[in-house]
Amino acid sequence: MTQKTNFESRDPLPNVNSLFHQRWSPRAFKKTPIGADTIKSVFDAARWAPSCSNEQPWLFVTSSGEKDFDTFLGLLNESNRVWAKNAGLIGFIFAKKTFTRNGNDNNKAKFDCGAAWMSITLQANMHGLYTHGIGGLDYANVYKTLNIAKDEFDIICGFALGETDQAGTLPEALQEKEKPSSRKPLADIWQAGIR
Ligand SMILES: Cc1cc2nc3c(=O)[nH]c(=O)nc-3n(C[C@H](O)[C@H](O)[C@H](O)COP(=O)(O)O)c2cc1C
Repeated sequence: MTQKTNFESRDPLPNVNSLFHQRWSPRAFKKTPIGADTIKSVFDAARWAPSCSNEQPWLFVTSSGEKDFDTFLGLLNESNRVWAKNAGLIGFIFAKKTFTRNGNDNNKAKFDCGAAWMSITLQANMHGLYTHGIGGLDYANVYKTLNIAKDEFDIICGFALGETDQAGTLPEALQEKEKPSSRKPLADIWQAGIR
């Protein structure tokens, strides 16, 4: 039986699309395989994100089925492995450090990766799937294990993608956290005009 998510801690204005305020990051995932076409469309959505000079500095490296899942899982820290082990896919987001056209430092690359990440998330939600960003990584090994050049790319974060499961499938300590979180009031984050 699917559990209905309770969004009562969220107070969006009435005209904000539910796509935004019903996105959240669950930890209870179900080990169901995700179709190849669905996975492709999720990452294709990211292709259309805006980026400085249209550099498209993002690189997504993802597990490909069960054969390498444990290698990807092993790059998360222990507290994240506990729940991410049930995700359908684990991936990592890298940002290319320099602009391809002139080799200059691209100090907007991480910002652009964030935009692409949101596209991944929203497209996943449209397929009934969820994502969970993961900053707690084994940073020392991520480049070597995934064969990514450290001088060319910055690791931004990892993520889990998959179908959700009941909170009761999680270790007890995580069950209580398994709900959409609240936000700062709009007045705290938006300033119209000069203070
Ligand atoms: C870059 C990034 C790193 C994160 N790292 C972790 C993490 O290591 N472990 C974890 O459980 N959640 C992690 N999260 C999830 C955040 O805690 C979560 O997005 C935030 O609390 C807001 O909740 P919501 O996404 O459910 O709205 C991360 C999220 C992002 C975007």
